[in-house]
Amino acid sequence: IDTAIVVVAAGSGTRLGAAAPKAFVEVDDASILAHCLRGVFRARPAQVIVVAPESHLDEARRVALAEAGSAAGRVTIVAGGSTRQRSVAAGLAALDPEVATVLVHDAARALTPPEVIDRVADTVRATGHGVLPVLDVVDTIKRTEGDFIAASVDRSELAAAQTPQGFPRRALLDAYENATTDFTDDTAVVAEAGLPVRRVAGSEDSFKITTPADLARARDLVRRAPR
Ligand code: C5P
Repeated sequence: IDTAIVVVAAGSGTRLGAAAPKAFVEVDDASILAHCLRGVFRARPAQVIVVAPESHLDEARRVALAEAGSAAGRVTIVAGGSTRQRSVAAGLAALDPEVATVLVHDAARALTPPEVIDRVADTVRATGHGVLPVLDVVDTIKRTEGDFIAASVDRSELAAAQTPQGFPRRALLDAYENATTDFTDDTAVVAEAGLPVRRVAGSEDSFKITTPADLARARDLVRRAPR
């Protein structure tokens, strides 16, 4: 298998205000992590590396094996770090030797369609570039300075970044080795290293569960269309 997907699920989810780390909060009878992995295992076969909080490694393994079915042999669970970037780095250390294409995915984007995952992986393989799934920006965005609006930004130049983001293995590993500051996504890390990054179509369903309102939206979606 030449593709791996690193699912980062080691965040605390402070903004969600739940007792458990975010990925372990229930959407219906299944957690955010379980829903995310459901999509991952419906995409084409890949090594699946789940990066979980140290305190939830056993729980992550239980959830992942339940969702994996016959793909259980391709699952690896590792402990995350104090930032998203450190968690990704911990996941990258567990890549199988034969993997050439690596996707990095937020567990919090629990309802990401499998087609988006396949689209990202296919585009990496076809181009050798980094690949970012995006949505058009619907809001008018301003640059701010303290209490003032500093500038208007042309919306047509903007895109909202989602995950999974995909890369050739070597380029991603090199970029992570040389990263100078902490970034909130992986295309920022490889762009700093000079790799071109392409856009492909993301999905409305790939929204990141961050606030209680996002969780309510996810609950509503799975109630209408169980997955
Ligand atoms: O906090 P936020 O939702 O932006 O985090 C994005 C993803 O990164 C989440 O799936 C979260 O679990 C993960 N993360 C992580 N390790 C951290 C911080 C965030 O795996 N230290």
